[in-house]
Amino acid sequence: MPEFRIEVAHDITGCAATVALQEKTWSGDVIVPPQLMLAVVHNGGFVACGYAAEDPIPAGFVFGFLGIHDYHFRHHSHMLAVRDPYRGSGLAQQLKEAQRDHCLDQGIEIVAWTMDPLEARNARFNFGKLGAYTRTYYRDFYGAMPDKLNQGLPSDRIYVEWPIGHDRTYKRLRGEDRAPSLEDAEGEGIGYLLRADGDRPGPLAETKSASHLLMEIPRAFQELKARDAKRALEWRLATRAAFERAVGEAYAAVEFLRATDGRGAYLLVPQPRRDFTLDTDDE
Ligand SMILES: CC(C)(COP(=O)(O)OP(=O)(O)OC[C@H]1O[C@@H](n2cnc3c(N)ncnc32)[C@H](O)[C@@H]1OP(=O)(O)O)[C@@H](O)C(=O)NCCC(=O)NCCS
Repeated sequence: MPEFRIEVAHDITGCAATVALQEKTWSGDVIVPPQLMLAVVHNGGFVACGYAAEDPIPAGFVFGFLGIHDYHFRHHSHMLAVRDPYRGSGLAQQLKEAQRDHCLDQGIEIVAWTMDPLEARNARFNFGKLGAYTRTYYRDFYGAMPDKLNQGLPSDRIYVEWPIGHDRTYKRLRGEDRAPSLEDAEGEGIGYLLRADGDRPGPLAETKSASHLLMEIPRAFQELKARDAKRALEWRLATRAAFERAVGEAYAAVEFLRATDGRGAYLLVPQPRRDFTLDTDDE
């Protein structure tokens, strides 16, 4: 496992170092200009690159800005990328930890970002390793996107929230409190809201007020998309329908579970009720 040096950007050179990686990961069409990044850094935002020894090109970077959501300050993490040879190295988590430290110093408790719900690797990273959750789904959030990861499909997103000060988050980052396996969840009798039927999405099931539900997604969505664009669109529409139903019935996705054969599924649970009333009547 290579060692990485995290360099927090405070000047234009630090911000400009992300450009090559942005181009490589997405494409030249969607670059966040380094001048804008620097302005963001000067206003409470965060840019950091991770370097492997003796490699002058950053192995990964993270970029986010200060925002307000639901009347509270939070940090919106707009981009995270790790170069192919360094994936699976732990760098992505190191970058998120540096971002978390920056936010905790500011008194911020939630870091949030949008994520394509069909990207199993990202789901595993965000839910399984960081301990994030989602309770919000957006159709075609960014409109048509020209870059190589997003082109050709509506850019539906889940809004991922990461409670950085929670004990559960600390435990996840330390590798404690690991998510159960998908086989364990199936063994407990948890039903599927959406399940693959071969490489296509099966029909949507009823939720029946279940205490837990599973929602399967393809193991390698980019490969599926390259192979069969029509099938990829079917998955986009099926997961959209599943998430919209689940969110509409006040479920949140709190885990992404994996099976040893590579299958992966979100675990959904009902959100805590927020509509309780306090009895303030004295008589
Ligand atoms: C997202 C990204 C930064 C994560 O970095 P990474 O080094 O790949 O992340 P990690 O390897 O630490 O974590 C990924 C987890 O998913 C798992 N995984 C990999 N492929 C998977 C798949 N097809 N299905 C399910 N899980 C998968 C990994 O095994 C790992 O879990 P584990 O450590 O518990 O085994 C990186 O993949 C990337 O740059 N992707 C392209 C850009 C992007 O999508 N950025 C995020 C949106 S802005």
